[in-house]
Amino acid sequence: MNFDVLTLFPEMFDGIKHSILERAQENNLININLVNIRDFSENKHKKVDDTPYGGGAGMVIKPDVVNKAYESVCKPNSRVIYMSPQGKNLNQKMVERLSKEENLIILCGHYEGIDQRILDKIVDEEVSIGDYVLTGGELPAMVLIDSVSRYVEGVLKKDSIKEESFSNGLLEYPQYTRPEVFENVKVPDVLLSGHHENIEKWRKKQAIFATCIKRPDLLKNYNFTDQEKEILEKIKNEVPNTK
Ligand code: ADE
Repeated sequence: MNFDVLTLFPEMFDGIKHSILERAQENNLININLVNIRDFSENKHKKVDDTPYGGGAGMVIKPDVVNKAYESVCKPNSRVIYMSPQGKNLNQKMVERLSKEENLIILCGHYEGIDQRILDKIVDEEVSIGDYVLTGGELPAMVLIDSVSRYVEGVLKKDSIKEESFSNGLLEYPQYTRPEVFENVKVPDVLLSGHHENIEKWRKKQAIFATCIKRPDLLKNYNFTDQEKEILEKIKNEVPNTK
C-alpha cells in the first residue's frame, strides 16, 4: 500500500519510521512517500501561503501550490484524504475500509487552512481523529497511517487483529505473563489450568465485562451470540447501570 503525504513538515514523520512500521516499509508492504508542499512553490522565497480574502487572522495555503504537489503523486486510483477536525471521526471500520485502498494521498493542513477551491477539486474524504483541534494535520496523518497499516497483509502476525479491541466489537480481555505471582497478586487460576474451553469462556466474560464498564456505548451495536447473552445476564449484577 502506498501513502503519499502532502505536508509542509515532512520531518515530523520521523515518528513512524520505527518498530513495526519500519519493518513494514523495509519489506515493501507499505510505502510512505513524503511530499513537501513547499517544493512546489514558484515564489523565490518559497512562500506557500497568503492572507485570507475578506480579512481575518492567519494565513491560507495557496491552491496552485497544493495542486502541483497533488499532481506530482496522483495516480488513477488515488483516494485523497484531507486531515481536518471538520471531518468524519476515524474509527476501526473506516481504518479497515481504507486499508483496502492501493494509493492514499493524505493532505495535511496548517495555519488557518487551505484554499477551499483546491479542497473541492481533489479531496474525496475529510477525516478527523477526534473532536479537538491540533496545530496541523501531521499528527492525525500519522495516526491514520499507523492504524491503516496494521490491516495491510503481512504487517502484523495473522491472529493479532482478530482478538484486539474494537475489531470484533468488544474490548480486549486482560493479559498476564510471568511471574505467576507479582506483589502478592496471582495470575487467575483458569489461565494456568490448560483447559482451553474454560479459558475461552473466561476471556469472553472478561471482554464483555470490560466493555460494560469502560465502553458501554459499544454494546449497542454488538451482535451477542446466545452464549454471550448468557454471560451478560450472569455479570449484570456485577456491573453498575447495565440493562
Ligand atoms: N487537524 C487539526 N486538528 C485535527 C483533528 N482533530 N483531526 C484531523 N486533523 C486535524
